[in-house]
Amino acid sequence: MKILVTGGTGYIGSHTVVELQSQGFEVVIVDNLSNSQAWIVDAIADISGKKPVFEQFDLADQKLTSEFFKRHNDLQGVIHFAAYKAVGESVEKPLMYYRNNLVSLMNILEAMTENQIENLVFSSSCTVYGQPDELPVSEKAPIKLAESPYGNTKQISEEILKDTIKSAKINAIALRYFNPIGAHQTAKIGELPLGVPNNLVPFITQTAIGLRQQLSVFGDDYNTPDGTAIRDYIHVVDLAEAHVVAVKRMIEKQMKNAFEVFNLGTGNGYSVLDVIKSFEKVSGEKLNYKIVDRRAGDVEKVWANPEWSHKELGWKAKRNLDEMTASAWKWEQYYRNKN
Ligand code: UFG
Repeated sequence: MKILVTGGTGYIGSHTVVELQSQGFEVVIVDNLSNSQAWIVDAIADISGKKPVFEQFDLADQKLTSEFFKRHNDLQGVIHFAAYKAVGESVEKPLMYYRNNLVSLMNILEAMTENQIENLVFSSSCTVYGQPDELPVSEKAPIKLAESPYGNTKQISEEILKDTIKSAKINAIALRYFNPIGAHQTAKIGELPLGVPNNLVPFITQTAIGLRQQLSVFGDDYNTPDGTAIRDYIHVVDLAEAHVVAVKRMIEKQMKNAFEVFNLGTGNGYSVLDVIKSFEKVSGEKLNYKIVDRRAGDVEKVWANPEWSHKELGWKAKRNLDEMTASAWKWEQYYRNKN
């Protein structure tokens, strides 16, 4: 059973490749290394004992994508992670985001249709809900006006999938991630942001290790118990496992509809200060942080209703917040000591 993982050297992609291999899948990775590095392929092989096939090219290139699929027309499915994902950057460079994230998806869908490859798992995001009116947020909640071009690419991608399955013989599952954090238990792969991290946990671990001076906590005047914003943090390995479940659901023809959507969250909301406290507890480090103004575009609170995923996918996140922060810290230390 051969699966294409686009963006397979990236953060969530690399963890998913390892889980697929551990379940007996053969994996082909396509990545243009725009936000990742080729040594990740070796790190994956180090963990799993199996080196995935790796091809480096840009899926926004229609010709290269079409040629790739002709060579690999025996794929059982595709998990499509490859995309730009920085909210702030997308505001500055909207066309770069629309071109990259949408054109690559369309190229993949066309090539899948041409080669009778039917199954696609798509990386979506809880950002499609904006600030939901009801918490926890279920898959039935309305899609809100996107806060950023990045968020809009996820909404439009879901629309493209919905339309495509009507006319092509394609099944698609969109997985709406909440906030993935943490790293593989071996600490051989993890989150590796280029430059100054935008996201909370890499900023915390980089501050603790001395790469950043101080973490800014964006706002303590939200309507939450401690005033800081609340998210549903999910361990990246739990997230990776959900992709394997989704792929199997497609291959085993258990889908109820040709387009399905699932929330991937734990159902628990934690504040920024909760995450800091957890980090300080598991690491024994005192974190240097200060409260600053809110960050533009941030929602106040969002956490998942994961019941539909529990019931239909038979998947449940197992790892708690301390395991998430501990694994992120172990990875940061391992990576910095190695380099
Ligand atoms: N935060 C800080 N300081 C930082 C970084 C973040 O206080 O230096 C806070 C944010 O304000 C927010 C929380 O930590 O309250 C989480 O922030 P992240 O940047 O880690 O994550 P977001 O929830 O903002 O973004 C994530 C994904 C996006 C996705 C979005 C949808 O990174 O891809 O969820 O809500 F679009």
